[in-house]
Amino acid sequence: MKRYSEHEIETLRNEIRYHNYRYYVLNDPEISDYEYDHLTQELRRIEAEHPELVTIDSPSQRVGEQPAEGFEKVDHPTRILSLSNAFSAEDVRAWIERISKIDERVENADFVVEPKLDGLTVVLHYQDGVFIQGATRGDGEVGEDITLNLRTIRALPLRIPVEDHQIAVPSYLVVRGEAFIMIEDFEKLNIKLEKQGLKTYLNPRNTAAGSLRQLDPTLTAARPLTLLTYEIVYWTGNVPDTQFEQMQYLQNLGFPVVNVDYCENLDRAIEEAEAWIDKRDNLPYEADGVVIKLNDLSLSTSLGTVGKDPRGAIAYKFPAQEVTTTLLEIKVNVGRTGVLTPYAVLEPVEITGVIVKQATLHNFDYIVEKDIRPGDRVLVKRAGDVIPYVIGPVKSVRTRQETPYEPPQKCPSCGEPVEHLEGEVAWYCVNSSCPAQLIRNVEHFVSRGAMDIVGLGIKIVEQLIEQNLVRDVADLYSISKEDLLMLEGFAEKKADNILNSIEESKKRSLARLITALGIRGVGEVVANDLAIVFEDLEDISNSTKERLLEIEGIGPNIAEAIIDWFASPRNQRVVSKLHAAGVWPRRDAPSTTEAHSLDGLTFVVTGTLPGFTRDSVKVYINTYGGKTTNSVSKKTDYLVVGDNPGSKLDKAQALGVPVIDAAELRRLAE
Ligand code: IVH
Repeated sequence: MKRYSEHEIETLRNEIRYHNYRYYVLNDPEISDYEYDHLTQELRRIEAEHPELVTIDSPSQRVGEQPAEGFEKVDHPTRILSLSNAFSAEDVRAWIERISKIDERVENADFVVEPKLDGLTVVLHYQDGVFIQGATRGDGEVGEDITLNLRTIRALPLRIPVEDHQIAVPSYLVVRGEAFIMIEDFEKLNIKLEKQGLKTYLNPRNTAAGSLRQLDPTLTAARPLTLLTYEIVYWTGNVPDTQFEQMQYLQNLGFPVVNVDYCENLDRAIEEAEAWIDKRDNLPYEADGVVIKLNDLSLSTSLGTVGKDPRGAIAYKFPAQEVTTTLLEIKVNVGRTGVLTPYAVLEPVEITGVIVKQATLHNFDYIVEKDIRPGDRVLVKRAGDVIPYVIGPVKSVRTRQETPYEPPQKCPSCGEPVEHLEGEVAWYCVNSSCPAQLIRNVEHFVSRGAMDIVGLGIKIVEQLIEQNLVRDVADLYSISKEDLLMLEGFAEKKADNILNSIEESKKRSLARLITALGIRGVGEVVANDLAIVFEDLEDISNSTKERLLEIEGIGPNIAEAIIDWFASPRNQRVVSKLHAAGVWPRRDAPSTTEAHSLDGLTFVVTGTLPGFTRDSVKVYINTYGGKTTNSVSKKTDYLVVGDNPGSKLDKAQALGVPVIDAAELRRLAE
């Protein structure tokens, strides 16, 4: 086993002290919590092996942080403990082995497994059932009085029992829980801030912690904080003496409690803990692990503590979702509308089982704001379905060779100068024949929600553009069989199929054609509205801005984008070529045969349907002869579901009413 010198241990301690300071004082961590936990675990391990080298100022000897200035101090009724960490099933088994030696009852113990919420510990005091005081953890012995801020959290019961249960409440009760922000609420908050042009928050945890330590409670009240409890810290009289029953008891009193899974033995507990790793991405809140606790709380208490950690529980941390790696290069992607988006090329790194080589950098302002430089060590996060992103640089390990990033002045695809619109974050390549844009444009034109040209994938699109067969989307309609046969990987059948798909696409509706043009701000919803008001593309092209502004859902920016699009000579040429090729759908009034396709059918709609507004879907169904009603019954022929369906879906399933989505509705109608 490696022997450590005093100097090496002190270096490790200094490193931990530094990161502690970054985290708690500056609120600006440079490494992930996971990496930090590893450092402290390493220090504890070394100190356990060399007790003679432990110093009183070692970070391992400290119980938390000093309370901040500005809040009254609160003495905790008992020490508010922390948790030691396990990173693997072996670590968990080693923990049980250690504590079995102290008390052999552990060998036959039962457990509970709870999510380890990533928020801020709060300690809540109730006297005769009334919430009288709430504190932060502070240093574990003294916390800060944040009663007024806590009172703003709706989930926190101000009086217990909440309902008129015949349940005796201890005359003094202190409960511990975690205050945090649900991921969805956090995202909504950021969208709101962004709309108001304000700075957005980095993550739910810091936002929750910052909100609770506001000196002005009205600021706290404006944040969507919530609460879950998981421990009775102090009580008078009697409370149940297992963790599982205590949680039920708290719930009966009216407290929101964490999810507790009962496990009859250690194997089950480990199994359960590992099942949580898979569930992690779908949780509505952020959790950085699970807590495995002995269910028998008197056994747990009798086992005592090691420093600030109880022996009777352990945090089993999830694998890191944030890691550090080297930013090799910043590259720029050119989108369909010419927007340039920077992205990071990374030294490949594994994050929760996936090798990550690229990550988004959002936009050029983000790079400046975070001072991200090529060559930097960067912190990268990957969570759930979101694309991995660069959180920021680790400035402390800079070599001073890194120079600030300069955004490109020329489009990386066509070399034309790029432009920046006043008041917008984005940079654009405005060259409409830029090959990168053309590829994205054609890709969008042929996509399912647009002209739906089946079989024309990105590879073929690239080939067609490379061979100069397609210089704009209208050229798709003049491709010949000979052209296709010249391309790599084409035989008769494939060429015929694609030509058929192209021919077939001429029948698409005006709304789809408008969507397909890819005008900035004009998605399916706006395209549908335009296709109701205007006769054909030419009619839109002759429109004034005022006429466009009369349409609900079209504001000055979109109106301007439409006018600009049709004003461009290049686009005018595209429109006439489409006309000449017979790609010329007219206003979306269905033909008489189509108008009866939904005759006699009754529909109920629930949730948001892609491409429709609440009203337009009803108009759509009506124009094809169908009827809509508001509630599902046996007479309902179809329930059309979109995102976030309501209880109607359950009802339809219970009654056996067929459930379809927007695409199927279109298929039935058209
Ligand atoms: S139990 C003796 N249970 O994790 C009991 N802690 O260092 C010790 N946490 O800041 C804590 N969820 O605030 C426990 N279900 C849970 C928890 C939990 C989150 C936090 C706690 C503390 C940290 C552990």
